Amino acid sequence: MRTVLLLSVLGIVAASSIERPKPTRQLEWKEVNFISTSDTHGWLLGHQHATWPEPNYSGDFGSFASFATHMRSIADSKGVDLLLVDAGDHHDGSGLVSSSPDGPGKTEQIFSNLPYDVMAVGNHELYHYADALELYENMERWNGRYVTSNVNITVKDGQRGWKSVPLGKQFVKFETKQGRSVTAFGVIFNFGAHDKGITIQKPSKLAIEEWFLDAIRNAPDYFVLAGHMPARGETAEWAPVFDAIRRVHPDVPIYVFGGHTHVRDCTQYDNRSIAVVPGRYLETVAFTSSSLPAKQDNGVPLDVARRYLDANPTTYKWHTNTSDETFHLPIGKNISLALAELATDLNVSTVLGIAPHDYFLNRHPYGHPRSVLTLFSDKVMPTTIKDKDRHGERIIISMGGSLRFDLFAGTFDRNDELTISPFVNAFYYARLSAGLARNITEQLNRAGASKLLPTVPSTKREEEQRVQATYDEWMRSQWEDYVESQGVVDIEFEGQQTVFSSATTVKKPSTLGYVTKDACPGKGDDIDHIPVPWSDAQPDFISTPFPEVDDDEDIDVVVMDFAMDDFLVAVNMLDPSLGLKESMMKPYAEGLGINVVFGMYAKEAWRQV
Ligand SMILES: *[C@@H]1O[C@H](CO)[C@@H](O)[C@H](O)[C@H]1NC(C)=O
Ligand SMILES: *[C@@H]1O[C@H](CO)[C@@H](O)[C@H](O)[C@H]1NC(C)=O
Ligand SMILES: *[C@@H]1O[C@H](CO)[C@@H](O)[C@H](O)[C@H]1NC(C)=O
Ligand SMILES: *[C@@H]1O[C@H](CO)[C@@H](O)[C@H](O)[C@H]1NC(C)=O
Ligand SMILES: *[C@@H]1O[C@H](CO)[C@@H](O)[C@H](O)[C@H]1NC(C)=O
Ligand SMILES: *[C@@H]1O[C@H](CO)[C@@H](O)[C@H](O)[C@H]1NC(C)=O
Ligand SMILES: *[C@@H]1O[C@H](CO)[C@@H](O)[C@H](O)[C@H]1NC(C)=O
Ligand SMILES: [Zn+2]
Ligand SMILES: [Zn+2]
Repeated sequence: MRTVLLLSVLGIVAASSIERPKPTRQLEWKEVNFISTSDTHGWLLGHQHATWPEPNYSGDFGSFASFATHMRSIADSKGVDLLLVDAGDHHDGSGLVSSSPDGPGKTEQIFSNLPYDVMAVGNHELYHYADALELYENMERWNGRYVTSNVNITVKDGQRGWKSVPLGKQFVKFETKQGRSVTAFGVIFNFGAHDKGITIQKPSKLAIEEWFLDAIRNAPDYFVLAGHMPARGETAEWAPVFDAIRRVHPDVPIYVFGGHTHVRDCTQYDNRSIAVVPGRYLETVAFTSSSLPAKQDNGVPLDVARRYLDANPTTYKWHTNTSDETFHLPIGKNISLALAELATDLNVSTVLGIAPHDYFLNRHPYGHPRSVLTLFSDKVMPTTIKDKDRHGERIIISMGGSLRFDLFAGTFDRNDELTISPFVNAFYYARLSAGLARNITEQLNRAGASKLLPTVPSTKREEEQRVQATYDEWMRSQWEDYVESQGVVDIEFEGQQTVFSSATTVKKPSTLGYVTKDACPGKGDDIDHIPVPWSDAQPDFISTPFPEVDDDEDIDVVVMDFAMDDFLVAVNMLDPSLGLKESMMKPYAEGLGINVVFGMYAKEAWRQV
């Protein structure tokens, strides 16, 4: 069978005015229910663009707060529990948390207006001591529910020097509205790249701590493990903690809420547990539900379910049976207002230009005019990265991985700019012969991949690359499965004019979004989607168009600092006689970083008319 996807242009309209698909299946409410979020990375304003699938994720944190509050009322009326759990990574990402040093703290303050039952810390809160200290000093925001079982911070101890103390609570025991007892822990995988002054204990060490064994001695009605690691895969380190509890309590339910890999996932470690991961950037809100064991039921499997909700007001209203008039609650309106004010204070909503098209990170191969990598190498870098003292021919080499998101048609603001690349970097150059320079990017890409994926990440960038690789693989497999199931899928473009942005397909009623295959029974996605198209052809390194010069002429070869190690290896591989060292590289265009160049380009090329 040969299917043709016809993609038509979607007008530029506010995401909020777009008709979104409605869910069709009621949530499976059971005796205990959870809403879990993770890896919000500052996306509390929601996704604001009109290109699919963005409108699916258009709910801001205010509408999420209204949703969660309605859901709590529904739980009360049914006489069941509903707990709210978050698994960390609030920092680094959107403009709210990446535009200024104050951003993360102010954003956390707004986040904490919605009371969670259990919160865990993410690796992105632990890269800078100052950020972790801000969390520690404002811990009362979370009403004793921020649980960091294996993370300590070293803080001043009066006159006596320093002491290492748990960042939040080591564990928490509480009683639910329905009178059930809960014991909860917050656990992060053992990661190496945290800042000085932070201590992370391996989960396997945590599981044999005296205080931990004390905390699990008495059986609660159920355990909640919130934590910053996936349910499955290489960074999943739940097993020691889970097994330690199971050794003492073979039948007590254990509910696990993870994160970090930015994908939707679910698995069951045994038939008295479920582990759910909700994905990233406030795109997904996971609903998990379970029966509770009767007294002396001798290990009858729990009846569990999970649902990945697209985080938007249409979903929220549908599942709470509310209307435009009744949905928005004071708590939500207040949060939305506070977010808008913060965005204004941080100048992240200032429009820098109007992008004429969508430019995608992964839907098109590099070289395609609608690839954001192509835009970056062919237009943005040549126009913006200039050194006031150097006017000769040059080539600029960057990493594809330094760009992180699509760039959508329509308004382009500072928030969008930071979303595409929040990185503060520097550029350096060396004078090299054009003949050699011509071969560097290819050499980098030939050698690149192995260096880019270290087996044990030891820096923030390496950890981010590992997360991105997991997410990318998930996206790739969704598209591949779809292509396989449909036969051949042709994507039609009308030359330069067609925007591959609309999910309005001729034959398919459903729209673009995630298509999740996890390891739990039944269907997890709340709405059926077509997966977002995926192109594998993304190089690790990209460079500006090569100037027209003879091979024996010397030119400036400019490279971003993130790519420096690989660059030096590549150059010395091509010409070992050069012995190029980092100390021989000179600063270029000082003060410019990729976190500002898209804005500069937008102001120049996409001026508002
Ligand atoms: C998500 O977007 C798709 C179009 O891409 C649409 O069909 C679907 O209904 C949307 N879902 C929600 C809940 O908005
Ligand atoms: C944190 O400090 C407490 C004592 O203040 C200690 O019992 C615990 O083992 C420490 N945990 C870590 C992860 O260092
Ligand atoms: C549930 O798990 C227990 C312990 O692993 C096992 O003995 C039992 O057979 C399982 N029950 C079902 C129905 O799978
Ligand atoms: C919403 O309304 C539908 C249809 O009346 C009903 O089946 C469903 O149980 C209601 N959901 C909630 C959460 O009240
Ligand atoms: C409204 O937001 C402010 C500031 O974030 C907060 O102090 C206040 O408690 C909130 N009020 C409600 C009703 O949520
Ligand atoms: C926002 O812009 C205004 C005016 O340009 C400036 O005074 C202010 O310092 C900026 N705020 C931040 C956080 O950058
Ligand atoms: C660059 O690559 C071309 C084609 O592989 C090769 O002929 C040439 O010798 C290389 N030049 C240098 C300086 O490495
Ligand atoms: Zn994350
Ligand atoms: Zn993470």
